[in-house]
Amino acid sequence: MKVLVVGGGGREHAIIKKIKQNPTITELYALPGNGGIAQDATCVNIGAKDIDGIVKFAVNNKIDFAVVAPDDPLVLGAVDALEAKNIPCFGPNKAAAIIEGSKVFSKQLMKKYEIPTAAYEVFSDMEAALSYLKTAPLPTVIKADGLALGKGVVIAETLEDAEAAVRSMMEDKIFGDSGSTVIIEEFLTGPEVSVLAFTDGDVVVPMVSSMDHKRALDGDRGLNTGGMGTVAPNPFYTEEVADVCMGTIFLPTMHAMNSEGRTFKGCLYFGLMLTPKGPRVIEYNCRFGDPETQVVLPLLKTDLLTVMQAVAAGKLRDIDVEFENKHACCVIVASSGYPGKYESGNEITVAEDFGGEVYFAGAKLQENKLVNAGGRVAGVTCIGDTLQQAIDKAYSEVAKVSFSNAYYRKDIGQRALSAAKEV
Ligand code: AMP
Ligand code: GLY
Repeated sequence: MKVLVVGGGGREHAIIKKIKQNPTITELYALPGNGGIAQDATCVNIGAKDIDGIVKFAVNNKIDFAVVAPDDPLVLGAVDALEAKNIPCFGPNKAAAIIEGSKVFSKQLMKKYEIPTAAYEVFSDMEAALSYLKTAPLPTVIKADGLALGKGVVIAETLEDAEAAVRSMMEDKIFGDSGSTVIIEEFLTGPEVSVLAFTDGDVVVPMVSSMDHKRALDGDRGLNTGGMGTVAPNPFYTEEVADVCMGTIFLPTMHAMNSEGRTFKGCLYFGLMLTPKGPRVIEYNCRFGDPETQVVLPLLKTDLLTVMQAVAAGKLRDIDVEFENKHACCVIVASSGYPGKYESGNEITVAEDFGGEVYFAGAKLQENKLVNAGGRVAGVTCIGDTLQQAIDKAYSEVAKVSFSNAYYRKDIGQRALSAAKEV
């Protein structure tokens, strides 16, 4: 079986390491992959957004199954283009990927089907948005409609900040066309939970829950990043909460997409906030989360390729998807300075006695040496019988993945740990 995975970050490395456990795989390609992924798959220098290039490669190399992991190619229709050549895929088609590609679409979907989310208004006219802000309660949340590399959300504490955010999106177009339309929404409070779910439009199978740490610095301070670490499961996500989410959010979302003629097949990511009034959807993503995948997939017991093939075939109902009754912690090693400017080109070494899983992201091969080449460089995941054990192990191993300007948060999992002690 020849399999290709589109993408080149830590999430894709985690998918590749898990998929490789399937014994029927003879060839495994990553497009484009990265210098670290090259240890586990054949990396081919075709960009994740180069849909024609991906399809040509898949056809020429007689690929049997494709996994499209990042948002951009999904929103651009990579799955439609591959399926048109009879290549089965894991991932939603373009019509379904809009659930992430347009926040206006997803907010309207939730309103129409009564799926709980923050109250909101949509604006395509800047003056209307600015005048609405004068009456909106603070803090207020401003979101660009389209994809914005996870940076299109501003939480404004003052009217001045809110106005500046609207102007930068709508007038200065800092996110390009993604900001031509903005959403202004109610500010919610409560613990955040990420739930990734397999779905084929017939059933929805949530994976083990997780908690991301988006801020750059300890104590949830500093700038927002793509994610500095994760733990799974998330102790705030009790069985009771899970039942409420299944009834009010997961199944209604699957049915809503079916009713809209946009059946979603793939991994649907629910970004939830557990507010005092109950769970609310903060965002949908049409893909696995990064770095949630780096803690969720290591706990998956069932063969990943089998699950993905079942999703693609609409036969997820026939599979038992099982997870280990354990805990995982992933600490992201970044280049110091990220998400701002940072130095790159420093050699990355992994100590011989390293005892975890390492998933590479911003890493490339340079003269046969692996060097840092991005903000988030690697994720180190360890598993334990308890959350405390998983965290302790991750921190004992993370120091063994080093380069001269390596930086990582020291408190990944601490909030979960205090919550777990209360529950
Ligand atoms: P998103 O890119 O939609 O995940 O938003 C980034 C982060 O902004 C989320 O993880 C939340 O922490 C925060 N956020 C987004 N929407 C809201 C909201 N309505 N109320 C409070 N916080 C929010
Ligand atoms: N960790 C957040 C995301 O993947 O969007």
